Amino acid sequence: MNDVLPDEVRYWRNIETVSKRIFESYGFLEIRTPILEETQLFSRGIGEDTQVVQKEMYTFEDKGGDRVTMRPEATAGVVRAYLEHSLYAQDAVSKLYSLGPMFRYERPQKGRLRQFHQIDVEILGVDTPYADAEVVIMLDRLVRALGIQDYQLEVNTLGTLEERKPYLNKLVQYLSNVESSFCEDCQVRLKKNPQRIFDCKNKHCQSLCDRAPLLINDMSSDSLNHFSSFKKYLDEAGVVYQENPRIVRGLDYYEKTAFEFSSSQLGSQSAFAGGGRYNRLVQELGGPDTPGVGFAIGCERLVLLLKEADKKKQPETKFDGIYFAAMSDAGFEKCHTLMQKLRDVSVKSDMDYTLKSLKAQLRRANKLHYKSVAILGEEELLKGVVTLKSFETGEQKEITFDDLVKHVDEPGQKLVP
Ligand code: HAM
Repeated sequence: MNDVLPDEVRYWRNIETVSKRIFESYGFLEIRTPILEETQLFSRGIGEDTQVVQKEMYTFEDKGGDRVTMRPEATAGVVRAYLEHSLYAQDAVSKLYSLGPMFRYERPQKGRLRQFHQIDVEILGVDTPYADAEVVIMLDRLVRALGIQDYQLEVNTLGTLEERKPYLNKLVQYLSNVESSFCEDCQVRLKKNPQRIFDCKNKHCQSLCDRAPLLINDMSSDSLNHFSSFKKYLDEAGVVYQENPRIVRGLDYYEKTAFEFSSSQLGSQSAFAGGGRYNRLVQELGGPDTPGVGFAIGCERLVLLLKEADKKKQPETKFDGIYFAAMSDAGFEKCHTLMQKLRDVSVKSDMDYTLKSLKAQLRRANKLHYKSVAILGEEELLKGVVTLKSFETGEQKEITFDDLVKHVDEPGQKLVP
């Protein structure tokens, strides 16, 4: 579980601000759901046999004896809230987004944490390929707006549950002939979730799958048409993608469209966003027959990509605000009063908590990237002025106490317009 330190927070804020702006321009509304949910929400929603439910959930009994889980993903909780508050009765279509921490007990490594953050997007109530394309186009636009260029989008169709059943029999039959050569994990997958074998990172397992039957060859025309319309909409919006029949996703609720955004810059945990269509989940969780589609972005992985992109840019430091430097006890008190006036009009300002040498105060002001320093020595105190020195231009001028707020009201000085 990571700490996000102050010099990294700007990446997080940028991701949040740009996402919200873009999502809201597509008509999405924010929803906030709790971290703790009843365990069965996830075992029913995500699938009992998935790795997430089998191995990765933070589950415990609370003081009242209820089994609760710290959410490993957002979709199930959003659907629970959608049902609990009958959002479907308010409008036929609900377009929702949310962001926050998720928890999976995984083996930590670069880009894989036990507490990580997702930005999640869901459209509930429509089964049109346009909705699938809409979320993918929006995500693609967001990634570009953040300045990330080195990434791939892979798309696939998983067909419907009915189409999958006979196909899975066929797949298991084929794979059983080569079973002993699969890695240990894949031997378990073969019994519990055979399609996940396609997702194995082991090169040998991948080569064994090369000639396995593909679902797309056994799909209904409805599913195939859905997939081709989805791709047509992506083409029209200029979204670049590759088709990859190996994209099967790790959660059980997907049907038809599935997609993943990845970047080779992330190493082995290369997927920084993923999603797809889930037409049974709402019903599975006790609601009316309601289709859905959505995705989640892994924020930590996005931050890694933004940092990579930053390395190619010239570092740029933002200077703002006024640092007060007092040179006597009386000056120290006056600085507090003046500083408060500036803070009350949202101008960033600060000073030391004890009286220090002028040199030490200037050094700190510079280190903290203040734009200027207001010096208050004996002489200034008598005259009722501060000496305002700009770190950018070196320019220095006297400003009366009364004029200070007016002066920093000038464009470019004030933080909050
Ligand atoms: P997911 O593929 O399990 O999908 O997770 C989405 C993203 O969360 C991944 O692509 C990855 O970037 C990030 N992620 C997952 N696990 C970790 C981890 N342990 N550490 C860091 N990042 C991680 C879902 O969760 C679905 N609910 C997405 C969705 C929404 N499908 C439809 N609607």
